[in-house]
Amino acid sequence: MTIDVFTLFPEWFDWMRRPRHLANAALTAGLEVRCFNFRDYTPLSHGQVDDSPFGGGPGMVIRVDVVAAALEAVYGVSAERVREGRHVAVLTPRGRRFADPVARELGALPALTLLCGRYEGFDERVHEHLAGDAVCLGPFVLAGGEVAAMAVIDAVGRRLPGALGNAESLDRESFSEALGGGTEHPHYTRPAEFRGWEVPAVLRSGDHGAVERWRQAHVVPAGGG
Ligand SMILES: C[S@@+](CC[C@H](N)C(=O)[O-])C[C@H]1O[C@@H](n2cnc3c(N)ncnc32)[C@H](O)[C@@H]1O
Repeated sequence: MTIDVFTLFPEWFDWMRRPRHLANAALTAGLEVRCFNFRDYTPLSHGQVDDSPFGGGPGMVIRVDVVAAALEAVYGVSAERVREGRHVAVLTPRGRRFADPVARELGALPALTLLCGRYEGFDERVHEHLAGDAVCLGPFVLAGGEVAAMAVIDAVGRRLPGALGNAESLDRESFSEALGGGTEHPHYTRPAEFRGWEVPAVLRSGDHGAVERWRQAHVVPAGGG
């Protein structure tokens, strides 16, 4: 899988390639994360990428011609056609919520392009004519799409074959079907007692049936609990 990120801060993604699960995914599933800086492709002088909004108001807006130029330079086809061949998603508070089913859906794609906004976001024509999807990390406003893109890369990358040492972890983790969309039971490890804080005795009992019942009883159902 190839994930291409268009951003004003490509260097922020350098560390994204280092976590072990992503490095593993790169080796076993061919995950490749490429980053492109809008400024490197802008047709405007002095690296300009944004402009003031029509109608007035505070803030700046990333220009559609800048985004189109970057897509065309990287993919070698007209910007409108890029989304015919790849899944192009804008990171935006107005997008669909990035939940587990969306991570699974995006992770099944051979290629994904993420557009990271800044300032007031993109000119609306980027959403209308250049992207095919819009993804929101949560009901809050970030300063830019980079952290949202990193969350997408992390969640998608760890699902790729070979990314995790123990692929079984994926079957019964939070939000999975096996847990009915709920969140996983709590975990404990040694020491069994620390400052008077004890690990539940059942987990140390060696009774696998009782452990399983305890774990199921401590799944928090979807929607809270
Ligand atoms: C400061 S925000 C723009 C906020 C916009 N003016 C609004 O009120 O919706 C700049 C950029 O951060 C990114 N961003 C902010 N919050 C986000 C979120 N919850 N999910 C995904 N991307 C987000 C988007 O790429 C956005 O274009």
